[in-house]
Amino acid sequence: MPSRLTPTTGARSSASDATLPFQPLPDFAARLIAWQRQHGRHDLPWQNTRDPYRIWLSEIMLQQTQVSTVIPYYAKFLARFPDVAALAAAPSDDVMALWAGLGYYTRARNLHRCSQVVVEQHGGAFPASVDELAELPGIGRSTAAAIASFAFGARATILDGNVKRVLARVFGVEGFPGEKKVENAMWTLAESLLPANASSAEVSAYTQGLMDLGATLCVRGKPDCTRCPFAPDCVANVTGRQRELPTARPKKAVPTRRTWMLVLRDGNAVMLERRPPSGIWGGLWSLPEATDEVSLAERARAFGGDGEVSPLASFSHVFTHFKLDIEPRLAEFDRGVGALAALNDTDTAWVALSDLDSFGVPAPVRKLLASLHGSLI
Ligand code: ADE
Repeated sequence: MPSRLTPTTGARSSASDATLPFQPLPDFAARLIAWQRQHGRHDLPWQNTRDPYRIWLSEIMLQQTQVSTVIPYYAKFLARFPDVAALAAAPSDDVMALWAGLGYYTRARNLHRCSQVVVEQHGGAFPASVDELAELPGIGRSTAAAIASFAFGARATILDGNVKRVLARVFGVEGFPGEKKVENAMWTLAESLLPANASSAEVSAYTQGLMDLGATLCVRGKPDCTRCPFAPDCVANVTGRQRELPTARPKKAVPTRRTWMLVLRDGNAVMLERRPPSGIWGGLWSLPEATDEVSLAERARAFGGDGEVSPLASFSHVFTHFKLDIEPRLAEFDRGVGALAALNDTDTAWVALSDLDSFGVPAPVRKLLASLHGSLI
């Protein structure tokens, strides 16, 4: 009965909670519960039970793994280990064998250890409080809250990857949720949203609703905002920023490499060199390169020049894994086009600037040469 719920946040337009940087959304919990009851999932194999063992097992399997993958494993596990005592007594090889294929095997080792701790230290009964659950192997803060909520009806806050996505979008939380500061803000937000006076059934529906919304509508790729109960208020939906929220993990700073490129020019022609078959620009025709200015001048001499090189404007090109700073240097030849053709071999070619299109030239090099061509016209 949503009407019994007391939202802990005020009206959206009033910044009532000075500790929260997000606009509160009235009736968040009531709307979520109503949606879950009508549109959420109700027949998953770990629902419709209060058995903490079954709920715990499902929550561990569902960490980093989708529902459809988990279902057959869950059934096999329960058939072989119907209760926590059976699991605790099993040889570790049996547990690992039944887990094989689910991945993230630390989960299976912790699962087994956890069952033994529950038997040895808790008399075979899972503790009911979030804090005690979170002490057990393999149970983090959010998983502890899910178990406490589903098994014991506790008013406990979950915050897994799906929930972070929902909150980031609905409330417009900026910043990568894996970052401690952002995560802490999200915990505060998630806690503020919990319904204040809810029955244990409502708490379960609320918790399940967050999970269901994240798994079925507010998905990563293409969220189905038209069916979302928060569509008119959702910051991401209203501002069209579903793709930008939650904020992606910041890209690692890419390393920078530097190369010197030789623009050997004779009138309207430049010399291109075929690159080695593998590595960047593998097999393309590019400018001769060197790792420093002196070596570049040596290369220019080896091609028959006098070693005089003059700087052109440097520029950068970003590859997936590094940034390349390019220092182009110009060396002028004066041999005449007829003489140049005789210098060509399988890996070097004198090419008219107007004829670059018939060679596979990397885009940034083509751009550099095009600007040169432009300045010659
Ligand atoms: N993901 C994590 N816990 C879940 C649950 N209880 N139901 C569905 N998906 C989940």
